[in-house]
Amino acid sequence: MRSPLEQRARAADTADPLAHLRHRFTIPDPLTYLDGNSLGALATHVPAAVHDVVRHQWGQQLIGAWRASSWWSAPTRVGDRVAPLLGAAPGQVIVADSTSVNVFKLLVASLRAAAGRTEILVDATTFPSDGYVAQSVGQLTGASVVTVHPDDLAGALSTSTAVVLLNHVDYLTGRLHDMAGHTAAAHAVGALVVWDVSHSAGVLALDLDRIGVDFAVGATYKFLNGGPGAPSFTYVATRWQERVHQPLTGWGGAADPFAMSGQFRAAAGMDRMRVGTPDILSLLTLDAALDVWDDVDLAQVRAKGLALTGFFMDCVDELLRPELAKVVTPRGDNRGHQVSLRVKDAPSLVDRLAERGVVVDSRPPDLLRCGFAPLYTTFADALRAAQVMADLLAT
Ligand SMILES: Cc1ncc(COP(=O)(O)O)c(C=O)c1O
Repeated sequence: MRSPLEQRARAADTADPLAHLRHRFTIPDPLTYLDGNSLGALATHVPAAVHDVVRHQWGQQLIGAWRASSWWSAPTRVGDRVAPLLGAAPGQVIVADSTSVNVFKLLVASLRAAAGRTEILVDATTFPSDGYVAQSVGQLTGASVVTVHPDDLAGALSTSTAVVLLNHVDYLTGRLHDMAGHTAAAHAVGALVVWDVSHSAGVLALDLDRIGVDFAVGATYKFLNGGPGAPSFTYVATRWQERVHQPLTGWGGAADPFAMSGQFRAAAGMDRMRVGTPDILSLLTLDAALDVWDDVDLAQVRAKGLALTGFFMDCVDELLRPELAKVVTPRGDNRGHQVSLRVKDAPSLVDRLAERGVVVDSRPPDLLRCGFAPLYTTFADALRAAQVMADLLAT
């Protein structure tokens, strides 16, 4: 006799319009993988594609591959494949460097564009690397760096604010912030906004163009499944592209990199966000991984992500004693595809879960993070994770 939760999981998996996509991924069996918010799973066709890049393009074409296989233009070509996931028209996204490096480029570029303004406002709940980079930008430029909780943004904005750096989804709690509202508030005082969408790309249908976002960055190794260390994407709205002067003026961002002129002139369009030689193997691994997204309806992804996280919270409520685990992720729709639980000794629980085939992660001091990737996570996975947690916490 199945329990009501088992019946719900089975019914939801049977009705899932995205269920067929799980078969496009290599997920060790048996494994309940709830860490796609840190490292997305491997799409099964990717190794063959990478093998071709290495054996054929590098091995046979050698230096000629920069032209024959269009390696040089790969950052913008792959950027145009990421763009639809961000709600961006072509020509506004480039894939290169890491998110931390891209935050640096955009903050300095913003300060330069907002001449006379002296303040960077940074999300007090930001992923630490963004905050560290902002502090360094402040030290280098003389701008003051002020941290503010996103809820208090309106009160902190002023005509001194050059740029606001915000995370769309809080990496600790999974809370989703109001991109349209915060962007409008910043624009109302003439400030620019840089959004870190690392935890919302591939989660919901982002709408950067329509909202009027200035700049955005994000990781591709999480919900986009680009592979370990896959390069990050940068979005620069068309209206800013000719006015943006990023500080890392390597030859890759020059108007004519092969002229070797000794005099830097920024390239037109997104190419000016480049620095040096693209990381071709990682970039083309991501290029292959993006194939999975070709026919995916982001509205279905979002609906399933909310259903999965909601179901998981119901399982936690029913199976785990509240004094042992407390859900800190919002219950409303203002969440990403992550559920965080406050538990005692989270790192040790992560290890014990892994021994039982359930992969999640922890963040200090006491948060257990469970990521739900609608392309391959099932409702049965959500239930099994909660059942194993209940077992382990009871002992
Ligand atoms: C929200 C967010 N921003 C920035 C980063 C840093 O990215 P990178 O290590 O690629 O620079 C991460 C890494 O996990 C992240 O989660």
